[in-house]
Amino acid sequence: MTSRRQFFGYAGAAAAGAAAGGGVVVAVGTGSSQEQVVSRTISPYGDHQAGIARPASAANELVAFKLGTDRAGLGRLMRLWSSDIVALADGRAAPGDTAPELAAANKNLTVTVGFGPRVFTLTGQKPVGLDDLPVMRHDRLQPAWSGGDLLVMVGADDAVSVVHAVRRLIADAKPFATPVWRQTGFWDGTGADGKPVTGRNLFGQVDGTGNPAFGTPEFDQTVWSADGPDWFRGGTMLVVRRIRMNLDTWDELTRSEQERAVGRKLSTGAPLTGAAEHDELDLEARDADGRPVIAQNAHARLSHHSENDGRRIFRKGLNYVHDSGATRESGLVFLSHQASVSGQFLPLLTRLDAADALNEWTTTIGSAVFALPPGFQPGGWLGQPLLG
Ligand code: HEM
Repeated sequence: MTSRRQFFGYAGAAAAGAAAGGGVVVAVGTGSSQEQVVSRTISPYGDHQAGIARPASAANELVAFKLGTDRAGLGRLMRLWSSDIVALADGRAAPGDTAPELAAANKNLTVTVGFGPRVFTLTGQKPVGLDDLPVMRHDRLQPAWSGGDLLVMVGADDAVSVVHAVRRLIADAKPFATPVWRQTGFWDGTGADGKPVTGRNLFGQVDGTGNPAFGTPEFDQTVWSADGPDWFRGGTMLVVRRIRMNLDTWDELTRSEQERAVGRKLSTGAPLTGAAEHDELDLEARDADGRPVIAQNAHARLSHHSENDGRRIFRKGLNYVHDSGATRESGLVFLSHQASVSGQFLPLLTRLDAADALNEWTTTIGSAVFALPPGFQPGGWLGQPLLG
């Protein structure tokens, strides 16, 4: 018998899952004993890889690899990973799993795979503009967090499932590819009432409001590649930036100084010119002294599509902490999806690097770009149109 408390827990999760395009409410049992439970299984199949058009998961790990094989070997690895992905999403142990009990079902687990620029020296057909980003003035890039030929990104409701999936994927990659960096990150997209919310970064800011909404033409145009090469239609380009955030100097600011740096309120994420999170920014508004209410160098102004010839990106932030003894570094594993890095992301980044108020408290220490191939269907495998 489901207790009242458990029932409301399920209902809350169902609302969150439905809004995220994820969980499906299924009836278990028959007649009066029927109970509603939530299936938190995300199908790994589809036109696009399943982890992309979703909010950030609670627990995440990204692993970049150096490739040590040829084109045929890469094809074998993609077949192997695709069958792993199907098993892991379903909560089944993949063949060879040395800890099969950790393969848990109903964890909203997704695995996203990407190809770095160097892969295309083996395969040809490089998506246009998929190149390492130029080093920005404020960047302090470390090789330990940069580049990579292959990416796997695992997201799930809990870290145990993520760590298990990553262990499996790395083990199967062993003959073909070696990890060069690993990054973990976490995100809380659930409010106190169990309903989905935008979530906050470690500065305390609501982060993700300006994203195009899932399922809209705006989202599709922003994210999915519609241009050639043919194999890449339905794919997207991912930029991974590891951005250190100086919480100590940020904490020395007054609240209004913090809000001025972005142009939005800390309490709700509303623009300084509005009342609710999703109110449009009024970039023309002036205060009593004639100064812009949203400052010229405010992050939300400089990154706004109206100030960037309509360019948009789809961002996901993963908060990270990195401890060394008692010393902690904090930041954001900043993920940006777009159809084109050179056409959308790079102009935006260049503009922010030149003038963004946030630059005083943020430093990018890692950078990588990947082409995320389109999804696959039962019987197929990831990257088949390129490598098959
Ligand atoms: C640690 C670094 C960063 C922090 C803390 C941060 C924080 C924020 C916050 C609080 C907002 C306002 C709420 C929202 O719309 O999500 C925002 C908006 C945005 N940020 Fe960032 N951001 C960072 C880095 C970047 C970078 C590197 C880029 C791109 C190169 C970027 C692009 C954008 C865009 C496009 C928007 C939405 C603007 C709109 O309303 O259309 N951000 N960011």
